[in-house]
Amino acid sequence: MGKFILIGVLLLAGCTKSNKPPPTPLEKGRSLYATHCTACHSPNPKLDGAVGPTAFGASSELLERRILHGDYPAGYKAKRATHIMPVLPFLKDDIPALHAYLNSP
Ligand code: HEC
Repeated sequence: MGKFILIGVLLLAGCTKSNKPPPTPLEKGRSLYATHCTACHSPNPKLDGAVGPTAFGASSELLERRILHGDYPAGYKAKRATHIMPVLPFLKDDIPALHAYLNSP
């Protein structure tokens, strides 16, 4: 009998612990991109979108300049000469996750 109670307690303990591991930077980046970027950029970052060009392979510096400051790293040759993309300063802590996603094969 005592054995069964012990098993029950162990099962309960197992349930209270979140069995989903926290998202990896890549997974986080993928969902951030889908939420905040695909209005203009293609859902497939390797392709040009309706408004925004491909963001695939963007360096951390390019992402930071573009997303937080609205400009480009010094000497960077922009894919488009337009200035349509707004700054998205609330993503300031998410540059590494976006970078991981946009640079995964
Ligand atoms: C409102 C539309 C819009 C949104 C939202 C948007 N972008 Fe853009 N993005 C653009 C446009 C348009 C350009 C081309 C330059 C310009 O007009 O500002 C661009 C340029 C870029 C570039 C530079 C490409 C290059 O090499 O010249 C990167 C990188 C980029 N976007 C990443 C992102 C990421 C990551 C997000 C989401 C966090 C995002 N953008 C959200 C419209 C958008």
